[in-house]
Amino acid sequence: MKSAVSLQTLAEQIEDEQLELRGLGFGWAEAGEEGEGPAPRRSPRRLEFAAGREAARLALRRVGGNQNAALAVGPRGIPEWPSGWRGSLAHSRGLAIAFACKSEFCDGVGADLEHFGRLRPRTVSHVCTPRELEGWSGEAQARVATCLFSLKEAFYKYQSPLLGLAPRFQDLVFSLEQTDEAHSPRIHVVAREGILAAPELDPFFKNLDFRLWQTDALVCSLVERPRVLR
Ligand SMILES: CC(C)(COP(=O)(O)OP(=O)(O)OC[C@H]1O[C@@H](n2cnc3c(N)ncnc32)[C@H](O)[C@@H]1OP(=O)(O)O)[C@@H](O)C(=O)NCCC(=O)NCCS
Repeated sequence: MKSAVSLQTLAEQIEDEQLELRGLGFGWAEAGEEGEGPAPRRSPRRLEFAAGREAARLALRRVGGNQNAALAVGPRGIPEWPSGWRGSLAHSRGLAIAFACKSEFCDGVGADLEHFGRLRPRTVSHVCTPRELEGWSGEAQARVATCLFSLKEAFYKYQSPLLGLAPRFQDLVFSLEQTDEAHSPRIHVVAREGILAAPELDPFFKNLDFRLWQTDALVCSLVERPRVLR
């Protein structure tokens, strides 16, 4: 499946959940379609940056936020969301997704987007604990590793503006479960076991909402902590 088609399929899954009814806006975009400036000046990184901003403005618009927000690059690379809003964006090989939420509804958001099949074995053993990979093999294990990487990156982005921790990948431990057919398993988060970098934050970690959406080619993860019961 071509990546852009895969992103559309992923977006349909996410949109089906009508997250905006719960105050959470979602947006997506492909790099290169509406970039400004003559083609030679548009590096892939710039196009991807622009796609991330486009996705973020769409996410804001979906829940009544400023669709023209500047979203400047803030300290440590964290985007500056409009006052009173939280959000997170991610891009991978020219595809971008973003989530946004009013701060009265959630204290923070972290999102990530990954293509399956790109993690090297060395990265897998750096990111995943042996326990997280137990019971998985072959393609399913590779997919699980990508899902774990994505969840951990999303957590990093969630906590970075709020807590400023510097967790290592293996400080977070998840338990994932396969929910679909063997050749292209869908995986969901069953439990989050702890945050070893700051054990005092374990209860906080366990109360976060972690979500995964997947196609054959892509995984999108989201972490947030709702402030109100939805
Ligand atoms: C910040 C980081 C998560 C970005 O991930 P990436 O795979 O390079 O890129 P993504 O497309 O997923 O996300 C990039 C976007 O995240 C946002 N971002 C960058 N730094 C951020 C931070 N510290 N906090 C929140 N969001 C951040 C930006 O919007 C950026 O896009 P932009 O540069 O176009 O504005 C990654 O570079 C990083 O530092 N990871 C931490 C590694 C680590 O130790 N993880 C432990 C996991 S617990």
